[in-house]
Amino acid sequence: MTTGRSKIFYIHTFGCQMNLADSAIITALLQQAGYTPAESEESAGIILLNTCAVRENAVDRIEHYLQRLQGMKKRDKGLIIGLAGCIPQYQREETLTLSPAIDFLAGPDSYRTLPALIEQARGGAKPTSLEFNTAETYEGIDPVRQGVISAIVPVMRGCNNRCAYCVVPFTRGRERSHPFRSVISEVQKLVTAGYSEMTLIGQNVNSYHDPEKGMNFAALLDAVSREAPRARVRFTTSHPKDISEELVRTIADRPNICNHIHLPVQSGSTAVLRRMNRGHTIQEYREKIALIRSIIPDIALSTDIIAGFCGERDEDHQASLELLSCVRFDSAYMFFYSTRPGTLAARTLVDDVAEEAKKRRLQEIIDLQNSISAELFQQSIGSVVEVLAESESKRSAEQLMGRTAGNRAVVFDRERYQPGDLVQVLITSATSATLTGRPEHC
Ligand code: SAH
Ligand code: SF4
Ligand code: F3S
Repeated sequence: MTTGRSKIFYIHTFGCQMNLADSAIITALLQQAGYTPAESEESAGIILLNTCAVRENAVDRIEHYLQRLQGMKKRDKGLIIGLAGCIPQYQREETLTLSPAIDFLAGPDSYRTLPALIEQARGGAKPTSLEFNTAETYEGIDPVRQGVISAIVPVMRGCNNRCAYCVVPFTRGRERSHPFRSVISEVQKLVTAGYSEMTLIGQNVNSYHDPEKGMNFAALLDAVSREAPRARVRFTTSHPKDISEELVRTIADRPNICNHIHLPVQSGSTAVLRRMNRGHTIQEYREKIALIRSIIPDIALSTDIIAGFCGERDEDHQASLELLSCVRFDSAYMFFYSTRPGTLAARTLVDDVAEEAKKRRLQEIIDLQNSISAELFQQSIGSVVEVLAESESKRSAEQLMGRTAGNRAVVFDRERYQPGDLVQVLITSATSATLTGRPEHC
């Protein structure tokens, strides 16, 4: 490797928005230490994979990627490869056995040590930094974000819940909220920088609790929306048990908070929810939906759902289908259950739904949800929706892609508009995933 590349790094980000936010922190920390981000993987002397461990196939993807990097490393002996994020935190030192190409490991609370890890790795050691630090919120680090339109703003890290299937408490540690004042000061900077959208994120964002003065998430969301009155404000992910009437009223009262709630249900059966340790029944979930809709009738709702969790009988699966038919979510992330070693489910329950049945149930869920989304999307043909243009559409520079406040993807004729513009779009056609239209001129 030419010496010029030894200070140039490239990050591949996998997994959720939390990892995307962390990659922006990592970029800032490495820049402070004199490293430069690369335009492409080929021009980098350091490649970092910011990884996800939530399902087995997420880990398979990384293993596959590492095979390719191993090939690159054979040709380029000086290349340094680091694994960051949730896989090393979850599998600890054992992660090194995934590939001989890995030079160092860094867990989500240890990114301040990255410059030292890189130097030690160059010296031939295989250093690891996997300590949890419940005080770490990366306060004082200005994330280096991709893009200038939409910003992700972490307001908490970690998770104190113990959903039986989930690795996140093991990969991210105990919940800690960022100070209210530091979130507000970050939002002020984003306003000055001209961002059009801010998404407040946390694994369980609505359990936010200001560590200094005790403000709750409704108060934070309200304050952010007032600080950034011209930006759209979103938040994710909410836990059903922590949705309060105060929070719903805040969304209703503040015009720039998007009328969209992502509310993972995981299963339509109370028996399964109990085994999942979700902390609520399906009746309580339905009551939350009714409360939300009574206050904000046009709210867009989306969810996460898992097919084939331990002990799921056909009648439980039918209850999940029934829930989808009844609530009519705008969209859903749908998965089949994947056992994660060390979790409560892996230790105490039997993964007894055959793989074939899991996949069949998942397909039924996907087919039903797609038909519901398609029907809901079809209903918006002929209406005019407000779209925040995010980028050129993948298919053509003559079209832009953006989202409605309800988070529906819209592709529309570009005309004179640019990414970042708020555009009134007349919807002319729809699939189950995308609306298509043209700007409406009054
Ligand atoms: N904090 C969020 C989401 C965490 S992970 C929440 O509480 O909802 C994102 C989604 O992955 C989960 O909502 C769940 O639907 C899915 N998931 C998590 N662990 C899984 C597993 N072991 N198998 C299949 N899906 C899983
Ligand atoms: Fe995982 Fe449950 Fe925490 Fe979400 S709330 S991150 S599903 S343990
Ligand atoms: Fe994956 Fe870690 Fe996010 S396990 S879903 S990247 S918190």
